[in-house]
Amino acid sequence: MNPLKRLGRRRASVLSVLALAAVVTPGAASAAPDAPDALRASTLGAQAAQSGRYFGTAVAAGRLGDSTYSGILDREFNMITPENEMKWDTTERSRGSFNFGPADQIVSHAAAHGQRMRGHTLVWHSQLPGWVSSITDANTLRSVMNNHITTEMNHFKGRIYAWDVVNEAFADGGSGQHRSSVFQNVLGNGFIEEAFRTARNADPAAKLCYNDYNIENWSDAKTQGVYRMVRDFKSRGVPIDCVGFQSHFGTGGPPASFQTTLSNFAALGVDVQITELDIAQASPTAYTNTVRACMNTARCTGITVWGIRDSDSWRSGDNPLLFASNGSKKPAYNAALTALGGTPAAAARTSG
Ligand code: XIL
Repeated sequence: MNPLKRLGRRRASVLSVLALAAVVTPGAASAAPDAPDALRASTLGAQAAQSGRYFGTAVAAGRLGDSTYSGILDREFNMITPENEMKWDTTERSRGSFNFGPADQIVSHAAAHGQRMRGHTLVWHSQLPGWVSSITDANTLRSVMNNHITTEMNHFKGRIYAWDVVNEAFADGGSGQHRSSVFQNVLGNGFIEEAFRTARNADPAAKLCYNDYNIENWSDAKTQGVYRMVRDFKSRGVPIDCVGFQSHFGTGGPPASFQTTLSNFAALGVDVQITELDIAQASPTAYTNTVRACMNTARCTGITVWGIRDSDSWRSGDNPLLFASNGSKKPAYNAALTALGGTPAAAARTSG
């Protein structure tokens, strides 16, 4: 649980700005303790923490040795999602032989810098080794899936705030149904429920999320399909705690209904999170609208961008992130910080 939520509201307001910012985000500690708020250069993570939220990024283990990269990471972000290191093709490349080395590197970095972790991802049709996708026997696949979930969650037990238990199980287009995958085709519709039940048993303390893309527009059939699944799970007591909206947006940013979508899902009794945010060309307005949609939703507990600098992005041709390839803050950074309630440092200096 976030420390802000444990404290009473009044105590939190007194203590959090100085103590919490200093502890959780080392970068925030550099301002003199008695500096006026306008001069205090806040960071994304520290600013999000003031409303009990987090601000995270995807991290690639291979980049941690780059000091520009890790400098921004540790100054700005207080939640980390491994970009690829917890996926099946890395963690269980051959049956029963597990490799957690690259993910352990990231988890250790997070522990050393006071950052929390999102686990990504346990059951997904993509980045899945061929030995899994070629299984045709249901009993075999069921035990392989459950063993993968249990072994990976056990390895990281106590270190993961939330797991993307199932990723991208719904089809694009107008069907509102599950997509074709080895899990769907061999195990049937019940595979998602089975994965969540197995996950709850493996680590009862971790939050369990369903994560997907193109579910941000409320009227889309895919959004409606996921909504019906979450409603069904909640009504039958299938364990699910959160829904992740990947939010890989085009130049226009989020659909106008995004906040409606977030609040409708939250009303089912789950947390909602923006889990893989990037926006083609990173227009400040598009970032503002995205961050505001979360800030305006009480159960939107955090935002994760899918990489640090444009050069780190899986869509690097779109320049979709908050930091330029040289590590400098882009206009979208100031927009995001402002939407979180913060004051960009440069603006504070010129006005103060
Ligand atoms: C992407 C990574 O960023 C790339 O490095 C990798 O080559 C492919 O996967 N949805 C997800 C993420 O859930 O795991 C994907 O990450 C982006 C789309």
